[in-house]
Amino acid sequence: MLIYLNGEYLDYSEAKLPVDERGLQFADGIYEVALIWDGRYVDLDRHLQRLERSAATLELRLPFMQSEIRAVAEELLRRAQPRLASLYLQVTRGVAPRDHRFPAGTVPPTVIAYIKDATIDQEGMENGVAAITEPDLRWLRCDVKSVSLLPNVLARQHAAARGVREAILVRAGIGVTEGSATNIWMVRHGSVVTAPESNWILSGIVRGVVMELTNAERLPVAERFATQEELMQADEVFLTSTTSFVTPIVQVDGRSIGDGTPGPVTMRLQELYMERLSRLASHVVD
Ligand code: PDD
Repeated sequence: MLIYLNGEYLDYSEAKLPVDERGLQFADGIYEVALIWDGRYVDLDRHLQRLERSAATLELRLPFMQSEIRAVAEELLRRAQPRLASLYLQVTRGVAPRDHRFPAGTVPPTVIAYIKDATIDQEGMENGVAAITEPDLRWLRCDVKSVSLLPNVLARQHAAARGVREAILVRAGIGVTEGSATNIWMVRHGSVVTAPESNWILSGIVRGVVMELTNAERLPVAERFATQEELMQADEVFLTSTTSFVTPIVQVDGRSIGDGTPGPVTMRLQELYMERLSRLASHVVD
């Protein structure tokens, strides 16, 4: 596997970092995961814009222009030539003796990028997946795509231990926020509901696209936090993310959603989303 690390393209075994790297010691960094579909990047600009927003919030100076990091992404793609894969991109506050304060002077951020093969869960996309609910124990800036993911890791592990795909996070006093690594949607009384863009969720790139698709389909949408009870009584529930696309959730906490099969609104949005991916890959460079 080829790794881009601070200006160099290295073999996986050569890509090494010191122990006082701030990503390792403080999770002091940000990341992005972008899709490669049919050999091309999808919505890479949107991912790079979100990276800039995350960096600004963490007062992290990015060492490159968007065009430069795009060139790195394109070079990795040229060398690996995958059909279906994801780009992982991470920027941290660099290497410095351990001290909570930002490093003084001109310590360069650490930039890591590599392409990883992806798979598509056909079975889950067609027949739906199961989820559990978990308390949302994260910090108050979930809009930042930070590598500090411990509550997400725990929630996802609890889901795996129960043999289900995703953990749906419920924030005390707020309601359903999102999944451990996905945005969560429900359909209730003909209306599509998802949490509003706010500090409580990551503004998913796929969330944004699906929002555009609901508008194009003239589906009524409400951006609000659902209660856990509403979620359990929803007609349909689904999740979205870069690597999961639009996937129906047919069971939550062991109880069936609707009749326990993927619903029509979910499947229509999934169809439109997959059509868009094919369209982007076939002619238009996003
Ligand atoms: N996860 N919410 C959280 C907490 C996420 O980590 C993600 C993405 C999403 C969906 O965002 P997008 O549509 O931009 O993929 C929502 C990535 C894929 C990951 O951590 O691997």
